[in-house]
Amino acid sequence: MPSEQNNFLTWRSRWTFILAATGSAVGLGNIWKFPYIAGENGGGAFVVVYLFCIALVGVPVMVAEVMLGRRGRKSPISSMRRLTTEAGLHGFWNSIGWLGAIIGLLILSFYSVIAGWSLAYIPEMATGAFQGANAQTTKTIFETMLADPDRLVFWHSVFVAMTIFVVAFGVTRGLGVAARVLMPSLFVLLIVLLLFAYRYGDFSAGFSFLFSFDYERLTLRGVLEALGHAFFTLSLGVGAIMAYGAYMPAEASIGKTVAIIALFDTLVALIAGMAIFPIVFAHGALDAAAGPSLLFISLPVAFGGMQAGVLFGSLFFILVTVAAWSSAISLIEPAVAWMAEHKGVNRFTATLFLGFLVWLLGLATVFSFNDWAEHKVLGMTFFDGLDFLTSRVLLPLTGLFIAIFVGWYFAAEHAREELNGEQSVIWSVWFYLLRYLCPPAIATVMIVGLYDSLVAGG
Ligand code: TRP
Repeated sequence: MPSEQNNFLTWRSRWTFILAATGSAVGLGNIWKFPYIAGENGGGAFVVVYLFCIALVGVPVMVAEVMLGRRGRKSPISSMRRLTTEAGLHGFWNSIGWLGAIIGLLILSFYSVIAGWSLAYIPEMATGAFQGANAQTTKTIFETMLADPDRLVFWHSVFVAMTIFVVAFGVTRGLGVAARVLMPSLFVLLIVLLLFAYRYGDFSAGFSFLFSFDYERLTLRGVLEALGHAFFTLSLGVGAIMAYGAYMPAEASIGKTVAIIALFDTLVALIAGMAIFPIVFAHGALDAAAGPSLLFISLPVAFGGMQAGVLFGSLFFILVTVAAWSSAISLIEPAVAWMAEHKGVNRFTATLFLGFLVWLLGLATVFSFNDWAEHKVLGMTFFDGLDFLTSRVLLPLTGLFIAIFVGWYFAAEHAREELNGEQSVIWSVWFYLLRYLCPPAIATVMIVGLYDSLVAGG
């Protein structure tokens, strides 16, 4: 773990970096979001496109982010300013830093509301509310919760407070425990759920839904969503990975490290999907395209049907909350690090102030599920709109900037120096992808996908 006092201390080992970055990457994006967007986009075709986006765009951009962070050795905004000035570039390129910090806060505002649902489910599970429940009952329990703004505000506030607590008093120690102990537990519990789904769910229906490539179901919108989610799930485009990269030991291999993180992240998402869909298909009352509620109404059916459901169910939502927690920290960290570095405020004040802003904005997401549910712009509620703006517009945009900056403007010999642990084939493949594939691919998917979402499809 890096020390708070010294910006230039590095993580004790490569594994600490892997755990911290995995803690950031693995979160609600894997367990909550991936299954539901795969469901909304018809399954297999979406999954294949998503895997391509991770491998061909996400991984190269992640390598670039880690490299920029390690080269800059400061908060993402300052690192970017330094590196772009060094490269003799226009001030416009600094936007990679500050735009990212703002996007992080925007995402956290709704991320925290969803994490609040997970928190609310812990006492619900522990008191046995789901024991013996069928799909209809779990649906009612979930909808009752959404309809109650007070309850949502309460749990949203608890989650923001938890995040502020860790960030204000030191990301390092708390994060280490979370990453080292709780993440592996989450993984084990997901495997338990997978076994349950295998035993009691319609496993083959779930499997073919997720993994059979049904080309007809592929839409332009789905492709854009897959790309945006690849950035979201790997924590790219915000400076989070850059901030952690600043602490990475100089001699560690960035390529191998990133490959491990991406592999973990993808595994968790796929296992979550395989735990959820067999249950969905075994119950007529559940809908694969149910959207954001999917995790919260289908898995409780499984827990309700297990002998030890009270225990496993509570444990599961505790671990989901922890996974969300270690991600939330990395969403606010770039903005906090920058404020604490530059504005003459200390870390504590910066965290409180930014945390308050995030909390306030989060209220709009809370109300978009009840009081304001009918207020829609372009067919989207506030939550839908914020999710759309961040995941499908802003994250790909900063990803595009990073690819162009590192591929075309950043001195190739500096990049080569940072990546000298890699074999020359891997280096060439990376450089080629970042230069020639990522920018046009991201730009095309964004333009065509946005046109289809906003203009053609309405
Ligand atoms: N990757 C996390 C998840 O999948 C969310 C997250 C954390 C994130 N930090 C980020 C998303 C930075 C985008 C950018 O839940």
